[in-house]
Amino acid sequence: MTNSQHSGSVSSDVSPWLGAQIQKVIDGIYRKYKDVDDGAVATYIPELGKADPKKFGICLATVEGEVFTAGDWDTEFTIQSMCKPFAFQLAMQRHGTEETLRHVGVEPSGEAFNSIEFDQKTGRPFNPMVNAGAIAVSSLIKQKPVQAGIEEFVDKMSDAAGRRLRIDHAVLASETATGNRNRAIAYMLLNSGIIDDEVHETLHQYFAQCSMLVNCKDLAMMAATMANIGNQPLTGKPVFDFQYLKYVMAVMFSCGLYDYAGNWAFEVGLPAKSGVSGGIFGVVNRQFGIAVYSPKLDAQGNSVRGILASKELANHLGLHAFDFSNVGSTFVQALL
Ligand code: DON
Repeated sequence: MTNSQHSGSVSSDVSPWLGAQIQKVIDGIYRKYKDVDDGAVATYIPELGKADPKKFGICLATVEGEVFTAGDWDTEFTIQSMCKPFAFQLAMQRHGTEETLRHVGVEPSGEAFNSIEFDQKTGRPFNPMVNAGAIAVSSLIKQKPVQAGIEEFVDKMSDAAGRRLRIDHAVLASETATGNRNRAIAYMLLNSGIIDDEVHETLHQYFAQCSMLVNCKDLAMMAATMANIGNQPLTGKPVFDFQYLKYVMAVMFSCGLYDYAGNWAFEVGLPAKSGVSGGIFGVVNRQFGIAVYSPKLDAQGNSVRGILASKELANHLGLHAFDFSNVGSTFVQALL
C-alpha cells in the first residue's frame, strides 16, 4: 500500500513506466479538452449556477492507492446524483437485496433523471439512479432522528474517500427551497405505498446526500474502494459489504447515465454515475476508480467534458469492460 500522488512523477507499486504512461494519457486528455466550452451549468438548483464553468479536473486512483491527477482535481463540488449508487449499497447492507427491491426496481427507464414515470406493473420507481428510485432508497436508509441517517451516510462516504467529507449547507438550502418536483415524486411514492409517511424526513435525507462536497480525488478513491472489493485502498478499512457491490455496479452500468446510459455502455463500457454538478465517476472493477469534473452539462444533464474525457480515458487505457485488452485485474500486470 502506498500513498503516492502523481502529476508527472512516477510511482512505486505501479511500475515507473506504467505510471508515466497513465500520467501522460491523463495530461494529454486534459490538454485536449480543456478549451471545450459546450453545454451549460445547471441552474435549476440556484446554488449550482455559481459553479465556475472553466473548472476541469481528472483523477484516476488505483486499488493500490496510487493517484494520478490533472487540472482542477481538488476543486470541491456537490456529489448530487453520484450519491445514488452509494445510497443503494447502504440500503442493501441494511435491509438486504429482497427488501430493498420491494421499493425500487433495477430496470433502465430510458427517461430523464427527474422523470415521474413508475413501473406500471409494480408501482416501483424503475431504478435507484433516477430521482424517484433514489428517494425510495433514502427512505430506506433514513434514521430517527433524521440527522443520524445523514451523519451515517457522510461517515461512510468519508471512509470511502479517505478524508472527512461535509455537507454544503447553502446547496442543501437551495435544493430544499426549489425541490418541488422531488416533493411531488415523494408524495406519489407515498400514495403507492413505496415509502412511509415521513416524507419530509426522506426528502431531507435525499437532499442532504446530494449536497455533500467532494472533489475528483474523493470520487476516484470512492470508486477505487468499490473496485477494491469494498476496502479503502489507502486505509485498508472495509467500507462496503462486497456481496452487494456487483448489484450496484450492474445498475450503474445499465442506468448510471439516464437516457445516455446505452451510449455510455457502448462507448465507455464502465459502471459509472453522473451528477448535475458536473462530475462523473466510473469503476474499473479490481483495478481503478476514475473521476472527471467539469460543470457544463449536455441536454441529458451529463458533463460535456466529463463524457469526452471518460471516452478517451477508456479508449487509451483499454478500460471498456468488454475490451479484449482489459482482462480484469491482470490488465496492469500484463503491461508490466
Ligand atoms: O434531485 C435533484 O434534482 C438533484 N439533487 C440531483 C440530480 C442529479 O444530479 C441528476 N444527475 N444528473
